[in-house]
Amino acid sequence: MLKVVAVVASPRKDGNTEYLAKVALEQAEKRGVETELITLYDKDISYCTGCDKCKQTNKCAISDDMDELTEKIGCADGVIMASPVYFGNMTAQAKTFLDRLRPLRNVHAFKYKVCGAISAGGFRNGGQETTIASIHDAFLIQGAIIVGDNRPTAHYGAAGVGNTGEDEIGVETSRLLADRIVDVLLKLDG
Ligand SMILES: Cc1cc2nc3c(=O)[nH]c(=O)nc-3n(C[C@H](O)[C@H](O)[C@H](O)COP(=O)(O)O)c2cc1C
Repeated sequence: MLKVVAVVASPRKDGNTEYLAKVALEQAEKRGVETELITLYDKDISYCTGCDKCKQTNKCAISDDMDELTEKIGCADGVIMASPVYFGNMTAQAKTFLDRLRPLRNVHAFKYKVCGAISAGGFRNGGQETTIASIHDAFLIQGAIIVGDNRPTAHYGAAGVGNTGEDEIGVETSRLLADRIVDVLLKLDG
């Protein structure tokens, strides 16, 4: 069965980003796909030290919660990275997580993964698009297939503002992002 994983990189439990990630996963489930929500606020993840050992071993030299998370991402067919906007970009948690996925790059584990981004900010034009673009950069460098939200909105992915439970466009674009990911996965699978 196809599986879509959403990674929520907010330091806050049950926050605005997590809300939108759950909306996306509910939509993916409705389309018949298995899903899993991963939160980072409750994980122990150290910074990449740049030791480059992963280039020889395809494994990270650091042992922490990334052992299990790297395995989960490696097995997923679709990945949604969801981050709040912090000073116009992703959170430190999101960046650390993406950096630590480097061992997957050596084996081109993202080659047929369909990936997209969700971002939630306090303000309209607060940096949701720049945050999403930075997440896309990491996916691109992993060699992933990157998608945005499906038509009729069809832009960068999902962007939320303020209390995302009341943000209709944030909710709609999260659903449509999941739709687009599942559409492409089904096509690849077929
Ligand atoms: C350190 C910090 C920096 C922030 N920078 C921005 C920003 O540049 N633009 C913006 O729109 N919101 C900014 N915010 C607000 C958060 O993006 C917003 O509250 C978001 O909904 C938090 O998501 P969460 O509930 O999932 O943690 C910032 C918040 C913090 C704590």
